[in-house]
Amino acid sequence: MPDQSNALLEKLLQSKKYRDICPDTVRRVWAECEKKYKKPKDVDKAAREALHGITGAFMTPEESSQLGYDMQQWWCTKTDTGLERMLQRHASTRERLPLASMDALYGQIFGIANRPRSVLDLACGINPLYLGARGIETFGVDISGPSVAAVNRFGEVYGMPVSAACADLLCSGAIPPRRFDMALLFKLLPLLERQRAGAAVAVMDAVNAEWLVVSFPTRTLGGRNVGMAAHYADWMAAHLPLGRAIADRFETENELYFVLK
Ligand SMILES: C[S@@+](CC[C@H](N)C(=O)[O-])C[C@H]1O[C@@H](n2cnc3c(N)ncnc32)[C@H](O)[C@@H]1O
Repeated sequence: MPDQSNALLEKLLQSKKYRDICPDTVRRVWAECEKKYKKPKDVDKAAREALHGITGAFMTPEESSQLGYDMQQWWCTKTDTGLERMLQRHASTRERLPLASMDALYGQIFGIANRPRSVLDLACGINPLYLGARGIETFGVDISGPSVAAVNRFGEVYGMPVSAACADLLCSGAIPPRRFDMALLFKLLPLLERQRAGAAVAVMDAVNAEWLVVSFPTRTLGGRNVGMAAHYADWMAAHLPLGRAIADRFETENELYFVLK
């Protein structure tokens, strides 16, 4: 039985769909499913279902390779149009465009919390590309290999002040202990809670930053507004980390933001 289980886990780690996801995540989800099911085949099925829910289709392989080309183009001209094209390649940054809206969003955050010198972007996707292009030193963490690779490429090849690590926030050692001026947790907490009850507060508690900026989606994937803002506002009020206070709360077209001091 353990041999069959190991073989299935190895196959899952090498599979086209999950080979670019942080291996710690695949192993963590597998171990969680092993606690619920006895037969290796049932564990495999449950693990695949759980991973599908976590990883989502934020950036397709085509978008990821297009992003490499966009980056090269942006480097030649450094225009906002080029930056916007890059940010289009990931579902989460795409939702915040046009770039003027993204500038306004950060203008509002930095109006309350001051422009940070260092940012920790948890479950970053490709959001650090925006911050780096605006000259803000950013360290990102994500389980998505292609997102992390894009951020590191922007830093290493194009000299922008960004870097990232492929790590799972539910595994130990993923959150850097050093102090940051600001930490971003954009559209992350509901995803973490779904993966492990209580994880959202644990992650907020573990972050070493003067300011936490947390966001929640306010529309379903189909674009409907079904009262998510009120639901997440209640959730935030009930789960405020010890020693933090809400300095600002505002809504954009698709997201609800909290700036926590
Ligand atoms: C909705 S996207 C948000 C991306 C980015 N924060 C933004 O708003 O532009 C959620 C991100 O969380 C990442 N993610 C999901 N579970 C994670 C975990 N356990 N640890 C680290 N990242 C995770 C996904 O890979 C994905 O990039």
